[in-house]
Amino acid sequence: MIGILGAGSLGRLWAASMPPGSAAFIARPDESPGSDLGYRFRPFNGPESIARVPWLRAYDRPELILVTTKAGDTLDAVAGLVDRCSGDTPIILFQNGLGSQQAVADQWQDRPILAASTTEGANRPEPDLLVHAGTGDTWVGPLTEPARRSVEKAVALLRRTGLAIHPEPDILQRLWQKLIINAGINPYTAILDCPNGDILAACLYQDTIDDLCRELSALIAAAGQGEETPAALRGRIERVARNTAKNTSSMRADILHGRRTEIDFINGYLVRLGKELGIETPVNQMLTERVQQLSSH
Ligand SMILES: NC(=O)c1ccc[n+]([C@@H]2O[C@H](COP(=O)([O-])OP(=O)(O)OC[C@H]3O[C@@H](n4cnc5c(N)ncnc54)[C@H](OP(=O)(O)O)[C@@H]3O)[C@@H](O)[C@H]2O)c1
Repeated sequence: MIGILGAGSLGRLWAASMPPGSAAFIARPDESPGSDLGYRFRPFNGPESIARVPWLRAYDRPELILVTTKAGDTLDAVAGLVDRCSGDTPIILFQNGLGSQQAVADQWQDRPILAASTTEGANRPEPDLLVHAGTGDTWVGPLTEPARRSVEKAVALLRRTGLAIHPEPDILQRLWQKLIINAGINPYTAILDCPNGDILAACLYQDTIDDLCRELSALIAAAGQGEETPAALRGRIERVARNTAKNTSSMRADILHGRRTEIDFINGYLVRLGKELGIETPVNQMLTERVQQLSSH
């Protein structure tokens, strides 16, 4: 059985995609929900069905734990979990951005902590409806030394969903690649309140994207994540913005629904890293502050 911590969009997607009876949600330590969690599941292809997912009981011993909380909740959520599960149970972190994964891995270096990067997309247009909005790939790789032995097992268990799962020895590099795209699209969509494609013609974007890409290029190199020219980065960001032109980013959706965004783990992470590495990041700083101002309203 797989235990899932975080019964939101992504957690519900994994739970509904597993064979019936093989996934359970993990409640917060101070909560003891009784009956199964039921919701409508609209798959990417095929008819809608009802998913019924039990809550993990104290005596259940999950083979694998997926953490599908938002980045800002993850350290606390894992802290509330570790005493309730065996020290050799692999834990996979599904958060976007960077910073939350390293915080968990640093705190529990002797446990098998893994990270995943996924291009699956799920949302909840209504509280009891889970929509698998986009299908893609999921890469899973180790963050701590003991996790190296767990990758194969974790991948095999997740493949029971029928989704495309791949082992990834250098998961940090993959998380960086996604971070760059998120850093170059999400804050602009949130500030400008527009779908991804519309940022490209906006003055704010055109006036700052080259400086942002210079900051990203310097940070990637200093972090040992390879060499990429600012022009190549801009090209990559714009290809994704065009290919997803009509999509609403998760950051814009968070602002529209009055939820906390993950800006502190995207451009905010890059600002903190810049300070550590002695690299100026004024555009990342400006984007972070403007999104923080929006979410505090
Ligand atoms: N959705 C996607 O398509 C997608 C794709 C790729 C990556 N991701 C990443 O996956 C992460 C989750 O995204 P999401 O869209 O699924 O977010 P979400 O819908 O907000 O789900 C997060 C869930 O975690 C719960 N939670 C928070 N703290 C908890 C705790 N201590 N114990 C147990 N549950 C807790 C929340 O409950 P409350 O609401 O009660 O606080 C919420 O149900 C994010 O980092 C996101 O960037 C999402």
